[in-house]
Amino acid sequence: MARIAVLKESAPAEGRVAATPETVKKLIALGATVAVEQGSGAGAKITDESFAAAGAQVGSAEAVLSGADIVMTVQGAAVDRLQGVASGTRLLGLLDPVSGRERVAQYAVAGVEALAMEWIPRITRAQSMDVLSSQANLSGYKAVIDSAAAYGRVFPLMMTAAGTVPAARVFVMGVGVAGLQAIATARRLGAQVSATDVRAATREQIESLGAKAIFVEKVAGIAGEGAGGYATEMSPEYQAAQAELVSGHLAKQDIVITTALIPGRAAPRLITDVQIATMKFGSVIFDLAVAQGGNVEGSVADSPVVRHGVTLIGYSNTPSRLAAEASALYARNLYNFIAAYWNKEKRTLDLPDDDEIVLGVRLTRAGAVVHPRLA
Ligand code: NAI
Repeated sequence: MARIAVLKESAPAEGRVAATPETVKKLIALGATVAVEQGSGAGAKITDESFAAAGAQVGSAEAVLSGADIVMTVQGAAVDRLQGVASGTRLLGLLDPVSGRERVAQYAVAGVEALAMEWIPRITRAQSMDVLSSQANLSGYKAVIDSAAAYGRVFPLMMTAAGTVPAARVFVMGVGVAGLQAIATARRLGAQVSATDVRAATREQIESLGAKAIFVEKVAGIAGEGAGGYATEMSPEYQAAQAELVSGHLAKQDIVITTALIPGRAAPRLITDVQIATMKFGSVIFDLAVAQGGNVEGSVADSPVVRHGVTLIGYSNTPSRLAAEASALYARNLYNFIAAYWNKEKRTLDLPDDDEIVLGVRLTRAGAVVHPRLA
């Protein structure tokens, strides 16, 4: 019978937790025992008592890890915290495999089987385990809410006896999961919304949410879509055409939300300081890509900057700013992963060696780093 440990996150400003009372109950229903480090849920407003009421053993890290087969985390755990665990123990989390290569190598040496949840392949079968989508969706929502607070002015058009208040103009750059939610949220608040992306397929999605699509036309090589539905790096011609198109548009916006990412590369630069200087005094730019190098020149993670009268904001960990919901969704993603590979007879996790999802997430095994992307 598997014993699952849930650790309290140690990274600064991480309020999320890898299990909730709901998923603890479901894991116990599978036949596991679950132990939760005390205080794990504090940032997500979950008390130790509610974990205990769901059936978890609540205790110190040492007690929780003793005999654990599976360790559930949000951002992984420092290797020294895992020293006591048995060889072959599985560690689930957002392990940041590329920047965190050194830590991955240490997991291998410690005999831990590290499973990187951000590398769950984006295939239909894995949708319920897709941590990137569940967290990006909340980030897109929160970017609009935080921008609205920083903007400090009205979003919807108001026609009153004292005159008309115009709707705020919101421009979303990068229409993946986060961008789509940002468009929907800004629309719900009553803003006039426009959006752009390099992937042509997003035009229809933008329009179906009632926003205006702003697209580069008539430039060679603009498909913009590479493997797995992700963006590719664009040609210099495209980048110049995009900059020109966007420049005129930016000057009319009140709020700009940037979300653009290219897998395995630094975030593309979408807004320069010169463009910021053309924007309206008091407008706001939210750079959701700030932790990956930033889409906006001059944006700084976790510390608002004012450039030419425009406030630039962005956080190193936006989902954690909605820790309760982010934890609820992340914990369900982890549960769905575990449930998909649960062996009912043995009451433990069975990860087949020829499974696309398993091969996607498995970083280390039997003392070695095994993932081809880390070779
Ligand atoms: P992401 O976080 O990697 O990137 C965000 C957005 O930025 C993307 O739409 C990308 O095209 C855009 N972008 C990149 N460079 C840009 C530039 N220079 N200018 C403007 N925009 C730029 O994307 P995310 O949210 O992770 O989703 C990527 C794709 O994966 C989407 O097509 C999405 O529909 C697909 N997806 C598929 C899933 C599935 O089949 N299970 C699950 C989730 C997403």
